[in-house]
Amino acid sequence: MSLPVIAAVVTAFSALVLYLWSRRKSSTDPPILKGWVPWLGCAVEFGKAPLWFIQKAKCKLGPLFTIYVTGKRLTFVTEQEDFKHFFQSPNVDFQQAVQQPVKNTASVKEESFFQYHTKIHDTVKGRLAPSKLGLISQQLSKGFLEQLNKSERSGQSIDLNDFIRNVMYAAVLNHLFGKGVMPTDTKEGLRELTVNFVEYDDEFEYGSQLPELFLKQWAKSKHWLLNLFRNIVKKLDTEQRSSGEDETLLQTLIASVDRPHAPNYGLLLMWASLANAIPISFWTVAFILSEEGCLEKAKKEIKEALGSPGSLPSDAEIPEETLLKMPYIKQCIMEAIRLRSPGVITRKVVKPIPIRNYIIPAGDHIMLSPYWAHRNTQFFPDPERFYPERWDKADLEKNVFLEGFVAFGGGRYQCPGRWFALMEIHIFIALLLHKFDMKLVSNVPNLSPLHLVGTQQPVGKCLVDYKMY
Ligand code: HEM
Repeated sequence: MSLPVIAAVVTAFSALVLYLWSRRKSSTDPPILKGWVPWLGCAVEFGKAPLWFIQKAKCKLGPLFTIYVTGKRLTFVTEQEDFKHFFQSPNVDFQQAVQQPVKNTASVKEESFFQYHTKIHDTVKGRLAPSKLGLISQQLSKGFLEQLNKSERSGQSIDLNDFIRNVMYAAVLNHLFGKGVMPTDTKEGLRELTVNFVEYDDEFEYGSQLPELFLKQWAKSKHWLLNLFRNIVKKLDTEQRSSGEDETLLQTLIASVDRPHAPNYGLLLMWASLANAIPISFWTVAFILSEEGCLEKAKKEIKEALGSPGSLPSDAEIPEETLLKMPYIKQCIMEAIRLRSPGVITRKVVKPIPIRNYIIPAGDHIMLSPYWAHRNTQFFPDPERFYPERWDKADLEKNVFLEGFVAFGGGRYQCPGRWFALMEIHIFIALLLHKFDMKLVSNVPNLSPLHLVGTQQPVGKCLVDYKMY
């Protein structure tokens, strides 16, 4: 045998031994779905419809199981009694789980991420804290009204998702990043921004795992957005910084991170602030419109709180107290969030962690699916039904949610934008249904099972006819 052939045989044999070694199962490991292709594992089947795959694996393997995908062990906890390990154990780590995805999606270098992540989290949390919402609600309601008044007065068979994106992207970005900062003023500017953001968001999950090389269109949008933020940071640098309450969240963020990465963190903040809240607004409106009784109840409540349909002046401000007069709308929002929660959230296991009769080894990614947790019949009977009244049992005025609800994650790095999110969606839906008479002319679309990061997008259009009052 020639030397190159011997070398090839030895290499192949070593690779096989290494592969088999990596697939060994210790008696304390949870049951595993490994697939048959080295390294890829179950990637192909998993990638076709990851949301459904998780549930199939649970039925096959039980409440605690591991899936082997692209060299990673993803270990799922699926029962409420095990969630405390995910949220509270000192043996799991949020930052180590998300650092690589953050690097891939926003080109943030590892050193910068570990140095600034906690500071950024606390900055967002502080700026969007419940004590700040009074002022925010007044400013945001003006922003939403401005955008709603710019919309066409009527339209037929238009896509509800597009309509909501147009209004909300502009108003929310103007509020968080400053008016005139993002290109939201002209139709063309907003359209270009929306196209690039939607592309970036749609493939975000793949972008977080794969090299840009495989995702040409996604990479183009990512760099378009990064470039936009580079120009914004440059421009803000030349202007005098506003102070106190006038300072935007973007200005505060830029001032708290290293200069070279300021645009990258700006992009991540944009994604975090739009990727879940806007689709949830869409689903909430779609569900309300699809149920006659629900729409009537919502309209009645809005009329009592804001006056006859369309009667609000265009510069009206909605104070927080007025939102308290519309508790049913909030129940509808909570119910839509329950039904369309993020597919998974994740932590890295840094020290072995005993759960049930197993030990989850260090290096595993421990996963929790809010989407499936919200279909646990013990906490949510008839789970697929849109039933806002189930939230009668919660205390939503004090933001005390139902047991088993985990849409915003938990622990040290729980979603810092959750109070802002609930409020912005509340204001938006109240104003939308106050100003517009909307009617569904198609079914509510199905959800896409493709994405796990963040909330689900609809498959296809959701058509509505509408008329301004
Ligand atoms: C209904 C809307 C929203 C949902 C369902 C949601 C859900 C989540 C979840 C599940 C996480 C991960 C938490 C964990 O792993 O424990 C998260 C993180 C985050 N969210 Fe939200 N979110 C929403 C809206 C928002 C909004 C409007 C903002 C900002 C304005 C925001 C800012 C963030 C940020 C910055 C993080 C990352 C935190 C970190 O890295 O420490 N979110 N969100």
